[in-house]
Amino acid sequence: MSVEFNHTIVLSHDREESARFLAGILGLEVGEPAGMFLPVTTANSVTLDFATVDIDFPMQHYAFLVSEDEFDAVLARLVEGGIPIHAHPHGQHPRRINRNDGGRGVYFIDPSGHGMEAFTRPYGSDPSSPLNGVTEDVPGAR
Ligand SMILES: [Fe+2]
Repeated sequence: MSVEFNHTIVLSHDREESARFLAGILGLEVGEPAGMFLPVTTANSVTLDFATVDIDFPMQHYAFLVSEDEFDAVLARLVEGGIPIHAHPHGQHPRRINRNDGGRGVYFIDPSGHGMEAFTRPYGSDPSSPLNGVTEDVPGAR
């Protein structure tokens, strides 16, 4: 099977603000605009095409698998930017990260209200680690 996830459209109130926010937090680049889309592409060549739309849209969830070093950088940018973080996806455990699957994970909200996640181990990669178990305080976090 050679099916690969390639791109999706991220509905935004302001594509510039949203694309620059996510790229800035994750250490990615904002690409050249393509029509109504402003792309941010991940290391595995998936493109998030940010589009400004003038309609109501529901929160969507986007999760990014990062290395431990990258997680340190992501977390530092979130703290320095005063961006609220949570250890769990529904806003529980503010100012904390989780230790799911023996790694680390954090949730934050983008400027359009989407739920973003950065984490270091795929879900279920450590069956001995309880999901939504241990959390850890992040000094200086909002
Ligand atoms: Fe998730």
